[in-house]
Amino acid sequence: MSAGGHRGDNVRVYTVTLKSTGRRFDVAAGETVLEAAQRAGIALPYSCRAGVCGSCKATLLAGRCEYPRNPPLALDADERAHHAVLLCQAVPASDLLLAAREVPSVADIARRRLSVRVAEKRLLAPDVTGLHLLPAVGEPRLQWLPGQYLDVLLDEQRRRPFSIANGPQADGTIELHVRHVAGGGFTSRVADGLAVGDTLRIEGPLGTFVAREDSERPMLFVAGGTGIAPVKAIVEHFLELGTRRAMEVYWGVRHAADLYLLPQIERWQRQARQLRFHAVLSESSAADRWRRGLVHEAVLADHPDLSGHDVYMSGPPAMIDIARHRFVAAGLPEERLYYDSFDYAPDVLAQIIASRAGIHP
Ligand SMILES: Cc1cc2nc3c(=O)[nH]c(=O)nc-3n(C[C@H](O)[C@H](O)[C@H](O)COP(=O)(O)OP(=O)(O)OC[C@H]3O[C@@H](n4cnc5c(N)ncnc54)[C@H](O)[C@@H]3O)c2cc1C
Ligand code: FES
Repeated sequence: MSAGGHRGDNVRVYTVTLKSTGRRFDVAAGETVLEAAQRAGIALPYSCRAGVCGSCKATLLAGRCEYPRNPPLALDADERAHHAVLLCQAVPASDLLLAAREVPSVADIARRRLSVRVAEKRLLAPDVTGLHLLPAVGEPRLQWLPGQYLDVLLDEQRRRPFSIANGPQADGTIELHVRHVAGGGFTSRVADGLAVGDTLRIEGPLGTFVAREDSERPMLFVAGGTGIAPVKAIVEHFLELGTRRAMEVYWGVRHAADLYLLPQIERWQRQARQLRFHAVLSESSAADRWRRGLVHEAVLADHPDLSGHDVYMSGPPAMIDIARHRFVAAGLPEERLYYDSFDYAPDVLAQIIASRAGIHP
C-alpha cells in the first residue's frame, strides 16, 4: 500500500479502497473517511456523526487513521484491538484498505437544503410534539427513503437531527415526532414557541437507517420513545410493499401515556396479520395491561437466539448501546443490525466531549 499522494495544489490526499467492491475514493487533508465517501457518492453507514453510536464501524485491513476531532468513544478495547475504526471520525494518515458495508439505496438521492413551513402541530404525548412540515412556497419537495432523517438548520454551524416519521407523500408532507429535552434549545422552542405558519430551514435526507428488501428473514423492530418515528416509516413501507415476512414491533416507553401511536399500530395489525406488537413500560403501574421492564430484555426473553432475524432499532443512546451488544451476543450478525441512535447534535456532543476531556474549544 502506498503512503498517499499529493494533488496539484500540493494538498495531501490519501486513497481509500473498499475491499468488498474494490471501489476507491480520495480523502483530502483533514477530511474524515465518511465525508470523503459522501463527496464521492458512496454511501457508508452512519447515524450520530460524533463518534458515540458505533453505526459507522468498519474494519481497517491496512493503513493508519487518526482521530483529531472526537475520540472513537463507541469502540471498546476489544474492538480497537481487532482494528475497528469509526468512519465518521477517522482521518486517514496513509492510504487505507477497509472492510465496510455500503448502503447503495441511499446513494442515489441528492441531499438538499430547503425552507419548510409548519402546517400542523399537535401534542402526541406529555413530552412529544408532532409536526407536519410542508415545503415553503416555491420550494421543491424533499426526497427521502423511509427511515432517514433530516437536520433542522439553526445557523451555519448548528443543526438538530430528527427522523422523518413517514414515507414521501404526494403533497410533500414531512412528519416529525419531537421529544422535549430538558434544557434543549430547539426542542424547547418546538414545545413552547413554534407555531403553525412558522418556517424552518432543513437539510436532508440523511442517514442509512432504511429498509433492506433483499432478505426473507423475519424482522424485529425495536424502538425507544420517539425512536418509533423512523420505525413507523419503515414498517409502513413494508406494509405498502405487501410483505409476507413476519414483523414484530417492540416499543419501549416509560408510561402508558407515552404510547401515542397505538391507533396507528392497531391499523397495521388489521392490515397485516403477521405483525405482532409488544409495548414494554419501564415505569408501569399495576393497572397497565402492558409488559413491564426494559425493551431489549423483552426482545431477548422472546427471542433468546437472534441468528435468524433482521433487527431494526432506534431510540435513546443508552438503549441502543446496551441492546446492540446484547443482541450480537444472542447470535445476531452485526451486519443485520440496522440502527439510529438518537444522540444530541454533533456540535453539542463535541462540546460535551471536549469539556469532559478538559479541552476548551
Ligand atoms: C439520527 C438522529 C435522529 C434523531 N431523531 C429524533 C426524533 O425523531 N425525535 C426526537 O425527539 N429526537 C431525535 N433525535 C435526538 C434529537 O436530535 C435531540 O434530542 C435534539 O438535537 C436536541 O436538540 P435541542 O436543541 O433541544 O437540545 P440541545 O440544545 O442540543 O441540548 C441537548 C442537551 O445537552 C445539554 N447541553 C447543550 N450544550 C451543552 C454543553 N456545552 N455542555 C453540556 N451540556 C450541554 C442541554 O442542556 C440539553 O440537556 C435524533 C438524533 C439523531 C442523531
Ligand atoms: S459513531 Fe460514527 S456515526 Fe455514530
